[in-house]
Amino acid sequence: MAIEICQFHTNQGDPRRTSDHNSGMQTTPLATRNRTLTPVDSTIVALDRLLKSAVGPHVAARPYPAEHIPETVRDPATKRKIAGLMRVNHAGEICAQALYHGQAATARLTGVRDSMTHAAQEEVDHLAWCARRLQELDARPSLLDPIWYAGSFAIGSIAGVSGDQHSLGFVAETEKQVVAHLQTHLAQLPQDDARSRAVLEQMVKDESQHGEAALNQGGELPPGAIRRAMKLVAKLMTATAQHF
Ligand SMILES: [Fe+2]
Ligand SMILES: [Fe+2]
Repeated sequence: MAIEICQFHTNQGDPRRTSDHNSGMQTTPLATRNRTLTPVDSTIVALDRLLKSAVGPHVAARPYPAEHIPETVRDPATKRKIAGLMRVNHAGEICAQALYHGQAATARLTGVRDSMTHAAQEEVDHLAWCARRLQELDARPSLLDPIWYAGSFAIGSIAGVSGDQHSLGFVAETEKQVVAHLQTHLAQLPQDDARSRAVLEQMVKDESQHGEAALNQGGELPPGAIRRAMKLVAKLMTATAQHF
């Protein structure tokens, strides 16, 4: 929907509009032509993005890391335990999406905006992989995903407004905390659950690269108080998403 609305406002006079019209995909009321996005339009676009990001479905660009690894988890209690961990990781990826979207929306330099958008795309892979693993474990994502998205988008936007260097530093610190968190989950997974391990191990590699890239682009790590606040918010999300 977001894309359609943008095209709606940017393709006026474009011959492609005619083919859209002829195909019956969309009819443009005369009174709404040649106008720019109003605050209501922008809100609808943001809500559309929120729903798509929070609810999915998400399609990974890269292969599923566990594709050729045999399933070993069959005991229902073990499945529930692993699903709780993967639900937290899935919710964490929803937050990552939202943080990057929020920061991309308010980034000042084009290079920074592009790098945020690129990272958000890689986070889609993580989302899709976590969602698939949850399905394999007969479990669902967190019911609070839309709330995680909205809250993280707001935090990302504020980080973006504070300037690109701070925003990049915020990414570096976030990714550092995510890597530490993923490593605790790797330690908690059953040794023989190679499928979940393959997913989390690839995520650790990607998150480390996101953090390094942010520092290489000139990111300045946030002060200690903000780092502690970030850890607190992450703890709250982790404790809640594991069950809901
Ligand atoms: Fe991620
Ligand atoms: Fe990341």
